[in-house]
Amino acid sequence: MNKLMQWVNERMSVTQVMEDHLTKYYAPKNFNFFYFFGSLAMLVLVNQLVTGIWLTMSYEPSADGAFASVEYIMRDVEYGWLLRYLHSTGASAFFVVIYLHMLRGLMYGSYQKPRELIWLFGMLIYLVLMGEAFMGYLLPWGQMSYWGAQVIISLFGAIPFIGPDLAQWVRGDFLISGITLNRFFALHVIALPIVLLGLVVLHIIALHEVGSNNPDGIDIKKYKDENGKPLDGIAFHPYYTVKDIVGVVVFLFVFCSIVFFFPEMGGYFLEKPNFEIANQLKTPDHIAPVWYFTPFYAILRAVPSIAGSAFPGVLAMGAAIAILFVLPWLDRSPVRSIRYKGWMSKLWLVIFCVSFVILGVLGAIPSTPVRTLVSQICTVLYFAFFILMPFYTRMEKTKPVPERVTG
Ligand code: HEM
Repeated sequence: MNKLMQWVNERMSVTQVMEDHLTKYYAPKNFNFFYFFGSLAMLVLVNQLVTGIWLTMSYEPSADGAFASVEYIMRDVEYGWLLRYLHSTGASAFFVVIYLHMLRGLMYGSYQKPRELIWLFGMLIYLVLMGEAFMGYLLPWGQMSYWGAQVIISLFGAIPFIGPDLAQWVRGDFLISGITLNRFFALHVIALPIVLLGLVVLHIIALHEVGSNNPDGIDIKKYKDENGKPLDGIAFHPYYTVKDIVGVVVFLFVFCSIVFFFPEMGGYFLEKPNFEIANQLKTPDHIAPVWYFTPFYAILRAVPSIAGSAFPGVLAMGAAIAILFVLPWLDRSPVRSIRYKGWMSKLWLVIFCVSFVILGVLGAIPSTPVRTLVSQICTVLYFAFFILMPFYTRMEKTKPVPERVTG
């Protein structure tokens, strides 16, 4: 074995790579619950890729055959039901994990200097993931697949001048058709997964260049022993590989309970109208995107149209995502972690999270005048969190940051 490793190492430094990224990659010793979600995101990504490949083996990407092929997977393909539920539940699990992963970044200021690139790659991942989920949802060719895509793509039509042509270009037709299904299939199964994998690699390279942040938000490279090992760092392998396995086991318990007992999750993971084949002549009573898009959908609906054009809403929805990209430059606080920031940062983070959840709930249900008012208030609070950030992070009094991690 040693000889084999030596032979390989002389040609490709595998041991060096293992040391740099695992056995001699020193991560802060005070990682907490919120640090499980990076490795869980990787697990879910692998689950989506593997189950997706097997689903593709029996799926038929055509307007005539798609719906029936999904039924065939569910009823006739050996363990096809399991593959499909692992994939559909995996999509929702991905967003649960990613939202918690992003929340961790917000809490501990992991986007601040020198980790801006990690955050930017993360945001690109988030964008591609949204595209991936949106396109995947058209594939079963159910009523909600069809009408959901119809609503979202027609939003492009609201963009002045280029809108209608752009919407037609995206669809490849005058309305959602088999042509749209085919291109979404190609993008969903090959193009976007490749981009996603590439971005995840860049995300990790950027992370390992500067090292992980931690719940105290302090630099562990300041204090090192005589061998250059950070005093507050522990080797990623075996310490964090073992810790991450605990997270994986707990996650799999919850994930499998959903897959086996509540795969539709009351219509939130698999929406009820999607058990009916797409019908161009019949609009469902209530069209709503899947839960992970609903906060943005609520923002879209909260902003009033101007002269019958939904463009202001589309703009607000785009801005709600775009503003996350510039977060590293909005936070002017001298400290990273929420533990040492002032009360204003704490309060605004709570307001932001609560508004996001309320928007998510409101985006999933039909609108009424009162609900629209609440979504308008939450939309203002959502943006205020970011726009006021340069001011409250600079004005507030921060707590003294410890020199060494506090455990
Ligand atoms: C496929 C999706 C993703 C995967 C597989 C992934 C993976 C990881 C992993 C393994 C880590 C190191 C472990 C950890 O800190 O938990 C990490 C760190 C990080 N990720 Fe992600 N990530 C993904 C998406 C995102 C997104 C969408 C964002 C934010 C927009 C993001 C922002 C960050 C940040 C800021 C860190 C550094 C955290 C710190 O050191 O405190 N990631 N990511």
